[in-house]
Amino acid sequence: MKAYEVRETTGLDGLHLNVDRADPVPGPGQVLVRMRAAALNYRDQGVIKGAYGYTKFPVIPLSDGAGEVVQVGPGVTAFKAGDRVAGTFFVNWIAGRIPPDASKNSLGGMVDGVLAEFVLLNETGAIKLPDHLSFEEAATLPCAALTAWHAVVEAGRIKAGETIVILGTGGVSCFALAFAKMHGAIVIMTSSSDGKLARVKALGADMTVNYKQTPDWDLEVLKLTGGAGVDHIVEVGGPNTLAKSMLAIQPGGSIYVIGALGGTGAIDPRAINRKSIRLQGIHVGSRDMFAAMNRAIAKARLKPVIDCVFDFADTKAAYAYQASGSHLGKIVIAIP
Ligand SMILES: NC(=O)c1ccc[n+]([C@@H]2O[C@H](COP(=O)([O-])OP(=O)(O)OC[C@H]3O[C@@H](n4cnc5c(N)ncnc54)[C@H](OP(=O)(O)O)[C@@H]3O)[C@@H](O)[C@H]2O)c1
Repeated sequence: MKAYEVRETTGLDGLHLNVDRADPVPGPGQVLVRMRAAALNYRDQGVIKGAYGYTKFPVIPLSDGAGEVVQVGPGVTAFKAGDRVAGTFFVNWIAGRIPPDASKNSLGGMVDGVLAEFVLLNETGAIKLPDHLSFEEAATLPCAALTAWHAVVEAGRIKAGETIVILGTGGVSCFALAFAKMHGAIVIMTSSSDGKLARVKALGADMTVNYKQTPDWDLEVLKLTGGAGVDHIVEVGGPNTLAKSMLAIQPGGSIYVIGALGGTGAIDPRAINRKSIRLQGIHVGSRDMFAAMNRAIAKARLKPVIDCVFDFADTKAAYAYQASGSHLGKIVIAIP
């Protein structure tokens, strides 16, 4: 079969197409999936550059993909040939609390990922797709959508009329917008681009702030909320934006600590305790959360925001496009 492999951490030069990789055969408890689409996450840039801590080399990259089951191994009862499935980001987080070794068990990290014609998944690491989604749409769910769902719904229990700031307009942020609007929240979205802000307004954002033109976006959020601040913040920016998030949040509000786009650094604990802020770490989510999210997506017939779809042969161009930061929502790779 054909599969991409990250062989060394030299950026795109270390990413190779292997056209002659052995076809996988499902063992006990495994399903063999013919992949039809995959999607890029910010983390996948880190994998090719050696900036993502938990990676083996060579590794088949990407955690997010969707396809159809072509064969099941002995003992498999939950799936049959023809089922449309995605893999779960963590191979070993089924339910409950995150296992201590989850980071060492993620697809496209220390476990081979989905940028291949065929992928073996554990029966417990596969999940059926919402019927109304194409493979390309469903490929965006395992990391980006689930991270947003975990933050906004599972941890945040967001309610109608509550306010939320969502930083940026990438994959996680566009899903956070969709889930917040699904629950009737009032959304303030930030971006470096007015063009992107116009697009998220059309997708339902109530208010927007350009964080490049208005570096003190936290003060702008206070202004937009009559001085009150917001109930929730989806924090993909990291410590360079966290201090501002702690200003823009209401006393007792919740900040979902998801990413570190602006680098890592120190935070001041006094700002946390004086406002009794909840800082909630989010690491993708469990298979149980994925199932709950899929039920909601199916009921609402929600469609992921896809910026563009690249051919499998143009995978390197997809990575380069993501690195340019031009995208809004998800970048997908179609697998022939
Ligand atoms: N903890 C987890 O489980 C988890 C899961 C998924 C992702 N993440 C993290 O979440 C972040 C986003 O991931 P993604 O896959 O959604 O990325 P993505 O699709 O590549 O989107 C990144 C977007 O972030 C925005 N951005 C960049 N710098 C920013 C800043 N200083 N302040 C506010 N926004 C900024 C940009 O939006 P504009 O172009 O609109 O400015 C950019 O488009 C990354 O740090 C990633 O590692 C964490």
